[in-house]
Amino acid sequence: MNQLDFKGRTAVVTGGMQGIGAAIVKRLEASGARVRVWDLDGPEKVDVSDPTSVQRATETALLAFGRVDVLVNNAGIAGMNRPTVDYPVEEWSKVLAVNLTSQFLTCRAIAPFMVKAGYGRIVNIASVAGKEGNPNAVAYSASKAGVISLTKSLGKELAQSGVLVNCVTPAAARTAIFDQMTEQHIAYMLSKIPMNRFVQVDEIAALVCWLASSDCSFSTGAVFDISGGRATY
Ligand SMILES: NC(=O)c1ccc[n+]([C@@H]2O[C@H](COP(=O)([O-])OP(=O)(O)OC[C@H]3O[C@@H](n4cnc5c(N)ncnc54)[C@H](O)[C@@H]3O)[C@@H](O)[C@H]2O)c1
Repeated sequence: MNQLDFKGRTAVVTGGMQGIGAAIVKRLEASGARVRVWDLDGPEKVDVSDPTSVQRATETALLAFGRVDVLVNNAGIAGMNRPTVDYPVEEWSKVLAVNLTSQFLTCRAIAPFMVKAGYGRIVNIASVAGKEGNPNAVAYSASKAGVISLTKSLGKELAQSGVLVNCVTPAAARTAIFDQMTEQHIAYMLSKIPMNRFVQVDEIAALVCWLASSDCSFSTGAVFDISGGRATY
């Protein structure tokens, strides 16, 4: 593992109790950061799709840390695999709330404090599904396309503030999120990856942590690919 310098830095990672989020937390902490995990399953029991919960967690983080240097918006769900015409409206709303509205809420709550401090790094976890649109995953794909646009929009708004906003678009990683998908869908995702393997969570953490570091200084509103060759743009 290459060394990154997060000494004295503070971070919030949503959905950091397992999978990709846990790998990001581990690497940030190993690099010297103090990290708060906002997760439904975590000690703070934060629901990032709920504005009140996000507001409360923001106040607690600021009280504990004084400032938040890094925000990683990672919490997400797959939602069910169904053809679009059969996709339940409630499921659509839930996936959009957890995957997209959550990132709007956390950015809205934390970015003003980063701007005031003149420094911040926001890294949003999107997906290659947001670029390509996976069949039978309309809510997931649309939510992740929304994350890409949110990133571009906020990145431009904050471009002169010292706060950089970027997103990553991983291909499939074998985590507990696979339990929400059909075997057919998992096979479809693998078949689309030219490297013919799933990405490892530590590989995603490496890219995310670089984007969360001060070494990343001239990229904002940008989309970073980590799809084993699947994405062609
Ligand atoms: N694993 C993949 O194939 C893959 C590929 C591309 C992008 N992603 C994205 O990476 C992120 C992490 O995925 P993962 O594979 O580690 O999933 P995971 O299911 O292993 O972990 C997701 C975490 O988010 C938490 N969470 C879910 N809803 C929440 C809510 N409302 N409030 C707070 N926490 C909540 C869960 O408790 C869990 O700890 C997601 O945004 C996912 O869409 C995953």
